[in-house]
Amino acid sequence: MGKTRPAGKWTTSRLQSLKGREKIAALTAYDFSTARLIDDAGLQVILVGDSLGMTVLGYDSTLPVTLEQMLHHTQAVSRGVKHAMVVADMPFLTYQCSLEQAIDNAGRLLKEGAADAVKVEGGAFRAPTVKALVQNGIAVMGHIGLTPQSVKAFGGYRVQGREAADAEQLRADALALQEAGAFSIVLECMPADLSTEITESLRIPTIGIGAGPGCDGQILVVNDMLGLFTDFIPKFVKKYASLGEDMKRAFARYVQDVEQGTFPGPDNWY
Ligand code: KIV
Repeated sequence: MGKTRPAGKWTTSRLQSLKGREKIAALTAYDFSTARLIDDAGLQVILVGDSLGMTVLGYDSTLPVTLEQMLHHTQAVSRGVKHAMVVADMPFLTYQCSLEQAIDNAGRLLKEGAADAVKVEGGAFRAPTVKALVQNGIAVMGHIGLTPQSVKAFGGYRVQGREAADAEQLRADALALQEAGAFSIVLECMPADLSTEITESLRIPTIGIGAGPGCDGQILVVNDMLGLFTDFIPKFVKKYASLGEDMKRAFARYVQDVEQGTFPGPDNWY
């Protein structure tokens, strides 16, 4: 990791220069401490995902997440990061209503949240929004395939692009977002051969989640890969730790120590 780590921050052009040369590693983060650890590990991109609705706030989807909540967590993450590009998700209904609304809210994520870029969900129909944001100086990451803000319209969390017509639409969506000025696109939950094809058709890097190895980079939800969020583990998640189990054991040992009077010990008092 971090072979080409820049002295300063990862920028859109530095990320794009990795395409075809080096894979991009991205994770979500929602707080200062985790962001600092991820940044120290040399990852190029940290996404303050609206997945925080589920992982941090306990909602059952991303739909209730507000701009104020995104700002709160984006500020915390930004304070922990020196090198990674901080991308903030625009939550549901903060960019869909009008171009003015999108510019205003994306601007707040940059000005108040200190994000480097924003991410919006949607394909060709979202291109005018992406174009308006980019024209106003806001770097935009696109997101197509399974777009969680549309879970109610999709009727559940399902792999997208399995039918020929849907795959064709996703290819067109990716090109439209690139032409609108997106600097990168997340491809979520689609067949691996389709994401490879899309990746090869674009100048800009793709970041995959549940989209196979052919993307220019990969992203995971940090709570999933650390084994912190175990209610539901999608097939595409690889668990790199079992922190949930470690935490449960630590809490139980603490309770035991307090009950038995073995904490605090002589090392722990003044
Ligand atoms: O909100 C999120 O965490 C995301 C990733 C799954 C890409 O959008």
